[in-house]
Amino acid sequence: MNDTRRPVTVPELAKARAEGRKLTMLTAYDAGFGRAVDAAGVDMILIGDSLGMVVQGGDSTLAVTVEDIAYHTRCVARVAQRALVIADLPFQADATPERALDAATAFLRAGAGMVKLEGAGHKLDTITYLVEREIPVCAHLGLTPQSVLRFGGFKVQGREASAADRLLADARAVADAGATLLVLEAVPTTLAARITAQSPIPTIGIGAGKDCDGQVLVLHDMLGLDSGHRRPRFVKDFLSEGGSVEAAIHAFVEQVREGRFPGPEHGYGE
Ligand code: KIV
Repeated sequence: MNDTRRPVTVPELAKARAEGRKLTMLTAYDAGFGRAVDAAGVDMILIGDSLGMVVQGGDSTLAVTVEDIAYHTRCVARVAQRALVIADLPFQADATPERALDAATAFLRAGAGMVKLEGAGHKLDTITYLVEREIPVCAHLGLTPQSVLRFGGFKVQGREASAADRLLADARAVADAGATLLVLEAVPTTLAARITAQSPIPTIGIGAGKDCDGQVLVLHDMLGLDSGHRRPRFVKDFLSEGGSVEAAIHAFVEQVREGRFPGPEHGYGE
C-alpha cells in the first residue's frame, strides 16, 4: 500500500494497520468521480447506499436496490485502478444469508472486491456465510442508516453505558464472524477509541474520532454539496480550502494520513 500504483488488496488492510498507516475511504458512484478518487490515492472506494440520498434525492437509504448498487459499482469499478472497490448491501438485501450471497455475487461480478453490511445480531451468520464463500466483508456499526426508523432519526449511538457495552460486544462479534474491516459511524470518540483498541480488524471512522485506523466520508459531503439534509458535525468541506475537486480529495488523503483529520470538532462526546 506504500506503492501508490499497485491495486490495494484485502490482506493489505490489516498490514497497513499493523504498520500504523491510516487508511482512507471515500464514496463514489460514477466513473468521473471514481477516477478522481482513485487517482488521488484513496485506498478504498465505497459504493454506499448513501447514493439513495445524495444521488437519488431520498430522505433515507431505504429505497436503494441491489440493481442500483450493482449499476453504480460497475461504473466505478471500470475506472478504479488502485483502490479496493467496496459495494454496500442495501436495505434487506442481507435479510437472509442466501439473499446476501446473491447480491454480493452480483457486486463482485460488477467489479467489487468486498461488500459492506450494517449491523450485528442475525447478520453475524450472514457475515460468516459470505466469508466462507470467499466474499470479503466490511461490517458497519453505530449509526447504521438502514436502522433509521428504529433509531427515530440519524442519531449518535453508544452514548449510554449499556449501548456502549453492546457496541463493544458487537464489534468483537463481527470480527469473530469473519469481517475484515469495521466502519464505525457517529459514535463518541472515546468509545470508538476503545473499540479500535480491542478490535482485531481495522476500524474506519465517520464521526468516530481520530483514533480509528482510517476514515471515510461521503464524497458529496466532503465537497461541500448541499444534500438537502442537515450537515452532520463530522463533515468537513475540503473543497472550500482545496480549490478543485482533485485538490480537495488530495487534502482529505493527506490530512487523514497525517492524523490532521478528523479534529476534535468533528467528533462526539459521551
Ligand atoms: O452508504 C454510505 O455511504 C456509508 C458510509 C457513510 C460509510 O455507509
